[in-house]
Amino acid sequence: MDTMVGLKRTHSCNDLNKAMNGETVVLCGWVARRRDHGGLIFIDLRDRSGIVQIVFSSDVYADIFKKAETVRSEYVLCVKGKVGLRSAETVNVNVATGEIEIYGEELRILNAAKTPPFYIQDNVDVDELLRLKYRYLDLRRPEMQRNLMLRHHVTKAMRDFFDHNGFVEIETPMLMKSSPEGARDYLVPSRVNPGKFFALPQSPQIFKQILMVAGMERYFQIVRCFRDEDLRADRQPEFTQLDIEMSFLDREEILVMMENMIAYLFKETMNMDIPTPFLRLSYEDAMARYGSDKPDLRFGMELMDISDAVRGSDFKVFETVLANGGQVKAINVKGYSQIPRRELDGLVEYVNIYGAKGLAWICYTAEGIKSPITKFFSEEKVQQILSATNAQEGDLLLIIADKPAVVAAALGQLRLEMARRLNLIDPDALAFLWVVDFPMFEYDEEEKRWTAMHHPFTAPRDEDAALIDTNPGQMKAKAYDMILNGTEIGGGSIRIYNRDLQEKVFKAIGLSKEEAMEKFGYLLEAFEYGTPPHGGIAFGLDRMIMLMAKRSSIRDVIAFPKTQSATDVMTQAPSEVSPAQLKELSIKTDIVLKKPVSK
Ligand code: AMO
Ligand code: AMP
Repeated sequence: MDTMVGLKRTHSCNDLNKAMNGETVVLCGWVARRRDHGGLIFIDLRDRSGIVQIVFSSDVYADIFKKAETVRSEYVLCVKGKVGLRSAETVNVNVATGEIEIYGEELRILNAAKTPPFYIQDNVDVDELLRLKYRYLDLRRPEMQRNLMLRHHVTKAMRDFFDHNGFVEIETPMLMKSSPEGARDYLVPSRVNPGKFFALPQSPQIFKQILMVAGMERYFQIVRCFRDEDLRADRQPEFTQLDIEMSFLDREEILVMMENMIAYLFKETMNMDIPTPFLRLSYEDAMARYGSDKPDLRFGMELMDISDAVRGSDFKVFETVLANGGQVKAINVKGYSQIPRRELDGLVEYVNIYGAKGLAWICYTAEGIKSPITKFFSEEKVQQILSATNAQEGDLLLIIADKPAVVAAALGQLRLEMARRLNLIDPDALAFLWVVDFPMFEYDEEEKRWTAMHHPFTAPRDEDAALIDTNPGQMKAKAYDMILNGTEIGGGSIRIYNRDLQEKVFKAIGLSKEEAMEKFGYLLEAFEYGTPPHGGIAFGLDRMIMLMAKRSSIRDVIAFPKTQSATDVMTQAPSEVSPAQLKELSIKTDIVLKKPVSK
């Protein structure tokens, strides 16, 4: 192998352009492609900035040509050469440097490479597990490099924004007290305190509130959080939050500041103008109109309540549901009355997944109404249904009757599914909104107790505080979520800052006084030493970048993510540890190791 001795890199590939015709440059990078054309060898050299074509000619430098013949994909090269213009017919419009090429005069092979297990190119169809195993190759793909670079630019802009606005970045502990509420904790045994465990933070929630008690006034942190929960495309066991807390601001001021932050990020990193203020939708309206607390507003197709229109018919299913406090709702899929029968049958199965027992439909075709249920309705009732749903000739109505929660879940999902199938979603649209006025508590049927819908440090609306002893289910919280294109990118609330109310909320979620003291005694005590009114929010950084980069998985914007089963296939973590390590930590397991682990 060669070294770079005597050569110094002068440019990155993408720096080169027509204006540099005739200049001598030194480039370093990886071989993206090598093509032999008789006496000419073309090498596409790739570095972080882009790709440029290098030409080695056997006529001019026979020895260098010979060396170039030995070069393979992903070899690491240093090349000295002259910038030249390509002839009109060989210009490559798909590459930024497509108008030029470099005539190679010196070639150093800095390192060889085995044949990679997949092409280092965008849009290649590779199994994700293979990509994760060879992540260093996957990250060489231009698309992945762009994603990581975008992430860097976004966090840089965040730090600038918060710095300009008087926020201080403060680190909070990674080893903290376990207090499972929400997801499961990742535990870390303490060697010096046998039998005791730290937990990795699910979020720095309590520390940031304590920082407000400590008089820091405005805090932010770009911080790793850990949650041992079931994984999905937008969930990782370790993920990054942009975590924020402020004193002396009310809800409206916080929402406005966060909108400004988002607008700043998009302007700085993507030169896009995001209109503010964002739409605000109450939780109740979001559930009623979209069947979701994170509605995708890139298209319409809202859920419509047709309970009144259908009431009083011979259709037993609807009558029974309505008599039992349920509802009948519909979506109008515009222009899709010619839906194939097979697809309709498939949709029935689709809504079953979300708990709906059935799906009724009305196809308003040019030949008239086609539906399995209109026979139960008078002509007048059918007209009422059509007018309640704004149905016109050509439209398809999909109808579900059930308990409100089931209707919301099933019809909300069906709305999304139909939009995907009919391509109603503009991939370039950015639909931001706030969902506000969440219920304070939700009832956990399994545990038979109230749980905090956001977290138990969230303040109730002032007018609802008195309900805490009598009717917690009726209380609304000063909580807010920011939604982008149907994904929750951030959530926060105004906090409780008074010991008495905080104790009542702990009691309402079933914590005894002793348990509350054991878990959160330090916070309750802190509240008694002059706590300012405060509130905050945390954004899922990975989700934000995923949406900005137009990816559908957060794994594509995290350098080293975990798989769906919470493992790292490159390093093979988690792994077994030696008996000696366990002994040192005073841990006994009842798992029998498959193979002994060496010390
Ligand atoms: P919350 O639990 O809503 O709030 O989390 C805030 C945001 O973090 C993102 N997020 C995740 N991203 C990737 N993988 C995960 N497993 C994951 N879980 C959450 C989401 C979410 O909106 N302490 C409060 C915030 C506060 O009240 O200030 C909190 O953690 O985008
Ligand atoms: P049935 O009389 O049960 O055969 O149902 C007649 C039609 O009503 C079929 O198209 C069913 O899919 C539909 N249906 C049944 N239950 C429901 C429900 N809960 N909501 C909406 N439609 C339903």
